[in-house]
This record gives sequence, C-alpha cells and structure tokens, in this order.
Amino acid sequence: MQKDELLWRDWHPVMIVADMAANQSYQTTVLGVPIVYSRDTQGYHARRVQGDGPCAIKERYATVWVCLSQDPLDFFAIPEFDEPDRRVLGAGSIRLHVSGLRAVENFLDMGHFPYVHDGYLGSEPYTEVLPYDVDIDPQTNEIYARNCRFVQPRASAIADKPIDVSYIYRVARPYVTLLYKTCVPAPDRQDVIGLFVQPLSEEWCVAHTVMIYLDDVNSDEELRKFQQTVFGQDLMILINQVPKRMPLETRHEVPVRADAMSSVYRRWLRDNKIAYGTYSEPETATAGA
Ligand SMILES: [Fe+2]
Repeated sequence: MQKDELLWRDWHPVMIVADMAANQSYQTTVLGVPIVYSRDTQGYHARRVQGDGPCAIKERYATVWVCLSQDPLDFFAIPEFDEPDRRVLGAGSIRLHVSGLRAVENFLDMGHFPYVHDGYLGSEPYTEVLPYDVDIDPQTNEIYARNCRFVQPRASAIADKPIDVSYIYRVARPYVTLLYKTCVPAPDRQDVIGLFVQPLSEEWCVAHTVMIYLDDVNSDEELRKFQQTVFGQDLMILINQVPKRMPLETRHEVPVRADAMSSVYRRWLRDNKIAYGTYSEPETATAGA
C-alpha cells in the first residue's frame, strides 16, 4: 500500500444533501484539489477545476461525497440509516482551521466532557473516564471502542435528567467517525451521530454532522440546536490545537490513560500509511556530523 493510497481512493464528504440547492454550482477543495459540483434533474455532477483527473460524486447517508480516484473504495456501512423509523438530519457543516484528523480525535475524546461540555455531556464530580475496550475489526479494518460509559447531565435534546450513558465509538475511515449512544426513548437501540470530515487541505477541514435518531419528541430545529451547541463548545479547543496537523509520533504528545482510543487511532493511521494531515518533527541535523 502506497502512502495515503487509502485517502485518495476514499469518498470524501462535501455537503449535506438538504443544504444543497438544485442547479447551483459549488466550489470546494478535497485533499487540496479544487473541484466544482452541482445537482440538477439529471443527477449529480463533479469535476476538477484544473486538469481532467477523475472526480466521481455520489449521494450516501444524507451527504454528498466525491472521490478523486479511478479506483474508489466501497462505502462503509451504516445499517441504521435504512431503518424506517429513524430520523435523519444534518446538524450543520463547520469549517475549521485544523487537520480533519484532529477533529476526529477530539470527537473520540471523552476526557474533555466534564470540562468542555459541563452541564451537557459531563459535569463534576464525574470526571473519571472508566476503562473501555478498543479493538480493530479484522474484516472491515475499522476501530471500535465499546463499553464506554459516562454520567451525563443532559445527554441529548430529549434527556431531562442525568443518565448513565453508554457509548460505542467507531472510526470507519481516517476522516469518518460515528458514535452510537444510549437512546432515551428506546433503551435497546442506539442513536447514531456521524462526523464526516472533509479534508480541504492538511490544515483546514469541514466537519459535517449527520444525526440518525429515534427521537420523536423534539423538532428538527431542537435536535440541530442541541448538536450545534455541543459542537460550538468544542470549537475553541479545536482551533487552538498546536500543531494544526496531527502528530503521529508519541514523543510529541504523551497520551494519558483516558486516551486509549486516541493512541489506537494514531497507531492505526500510521499502520494504514496515512500522512495527509499529520505532522512529523523535521529531522534535526546532527552538528558536526
Ligand atoms: Fe467535545
């Protein structure tokens, strides 16, 4: 496998379908490559602004995706998306001056809940991240963190009292992560939140959020507002990350115990030869050598 081959063959999100107007041309970048795309009665169209390299476009999971390779990877599966009683809605697309890998890593980090999402996803004195299990599915090469638990004052728009929430985190692709979360109205099922990150460049991204929920109480607006409030709380951490790219070598940042998922994610990026959006310390010349 070549460096970044998985990224170049992958599908990357560019817009939530519901946010896209028909017969309008949009310009963006994917992996630093400028593209234009649109939708009309014939369907979706996309092309590179320069050159005649491949640019495929497809609608999947309420989102528009593009692929810059002639040999696209298959899509990852979200079976819940096809369940008829699910509500699927976009919760916005936010442009961030940070590597998309950092945005994914922040999404995976439960340690910041009581501090950054105080009153929502965590609160003191419940600051401890309890041990959880992380593994890589050998069939799909996806990361799963199971048995994640946290006491949350207001876990979702529908939660009116603190509940002991259980989470499954899944990393389906380097820039795609999903969260499966205790569903208040249907305790045997889970709400799903997808964070689909578009790598504009190595240091800029757009985080597209899609909710696949069972909530039948809140309006779309209430669900969106809740998710956007939570995401807004993350903004300051995200845009203040130094360096903007994701350091993969552990000597740059020492992961603490609560960061088991982060360590696995970084190792998995290395094992899959992902370099785009990562940071390596420049080799220092040895004096006098
Ligand atoms: Fe957060």
